[in-house]
Amino acid sequence: MKILVTGGAGYIGSHAVVELYQAGYQPVIVDNFSNSEESALAGIEAIIGAKVPTYRIDCADNAALRTVFQTEEKIDGVIHFAAYKAVGESVQKPLAYFQNNVGSLLTLLEVMTEFEVTNLVFSSSCTVYGIPDALPVTEATPSKPASSPYGRTKQMCEDVVHDVSAAPTNKLHTILLRYFNPIGAHNSAKIGELPLGVPNNLVPYITQTAAGIREQLTINGGDYDTPDGTNIRDYIHVVDLAKAHVVAVQRLLDRKASEVVETFNVGTGHGNSVLEVVQAFEQASGLKLNYHIGPRRAGDVPAIYADATKAEQVLGFKTETSLLDSLASAWKWQQTLHKNG
Ligand code: NAD
Ligand code: WQD
Repeated sequence: MKILVTGGAGYIGSHAVVELYQAGYQPVIVDNFSNSEESALAGIEAIIGAKVPTYRIDCADNAALRTVFQTEEKIDGVIHFAAYKAVGESVQKPLAYFQNNVGSLLTLLEVMTEFEVTNLVFSSSCTVYGIPDALPVTEATPSKPASSPYGRTKQMCEDVVHDVSAAPTNKLHTILLRYFNPIGAHNSAKIGELPLGVPNNLVPYITQTAAGIREQLTINGGDYDTPDGTNIRDYIHVVDLAKAHVVAVQRLLDRKASEVVETFNVGTGHGNSVLEVVQAFEQASGLKLNYHIGPRRAGDVPAIYADATKAEQVLGFKTETSLLDSLASAWKWQQTLHKNG
């Protein structure tokens, strides 16, 4: 079965390509490398021992995307990772985010409809919940206003998928996966996250601080209404997250879905505070981290973590990697990057 993976050279996409291949699928990558490097392809190849067909195109480009569908002849399903993902940047450049994130989905759906490809897994995000009233969040928890244009693009994309699937003539079947906070890297340390410039996300900031690239981690606020005063998130290992895509694709291909659009939280079901992550990193690496508590970061949700019951009961998906092991893999990846300059 041939699975088109848009954004397949990116952080989560590259791990999904590996898991798909190892589960017996034929992945095909579409990426414009706007936020990734060719080196990810070499990393994938080194892990699986094969080259993955790759198209360097923008998937918001209808003509280019049509060529891929024509060349590949029969695509059984698509996983759509391609998007911009920097929350802060989306506030600065909202149009670019709407154009790329919503625009690429619209183009993809047009082309999928034309070529009668009916199976889609879409990368959504816990950001669609906004600041939830109650924890943990279930898939039925109502979405609150998004705190950034980035978050709004994910809400809009979910709406687009629902409307397109509801159209009487459309045969689209979609699984929306709402990821919580993906962290870590492949255990081989051949693929991982490649943050450009100063990282916004916690774990790359921690590993770069430990590696001496950053001087000190600033914890964004220690006065939240949480047990230790720092924010709580649900950190999921990227390989576990990648595996959720394999299960979702298989469910679509088997036509097991109970509705044309199904939504799943993909998290561990456990919340950890920023301080707990720092302590777990120190334990995993054997290092002391230079950090201090600074002011709150605008737009941060005080606490959010998944109710992961639906994914477990319906998809049979459960995360396997502990926070400690996830952070150990992130540190191993960082050291590999450091060695290579
Ligand atoms: P990433 O930036 O590492 O990967 C995205 C990939 O898509 C990159 O390789 C980029 O070059 C490519 N891309 C972007 N726009 C494109 C376009 N128009 N055409 C072709 N390629 C394009 O990001 P990631 O962390 O792997 O995220 C993958 C998906 O998961 C995104 O949709 C993101 O919004 C979503 N998501 C990420 C997180 C997270 O914390 N990383 C959490 C929830 C959801
Ligand atoms: C985690 C915690 C920070 C950096 C983002 C997006 C979300 C989703 C996942 C895509 C927070 C704190 C961080 C630092 C810190 N992405 N922190 N010092 O904000 O939960 O979620 O990525 O869909 O949409 O918003 O992730 O890694 O930035 O932060 O104290 O230098 O770490 O304040 O509490 P976040 P994050």
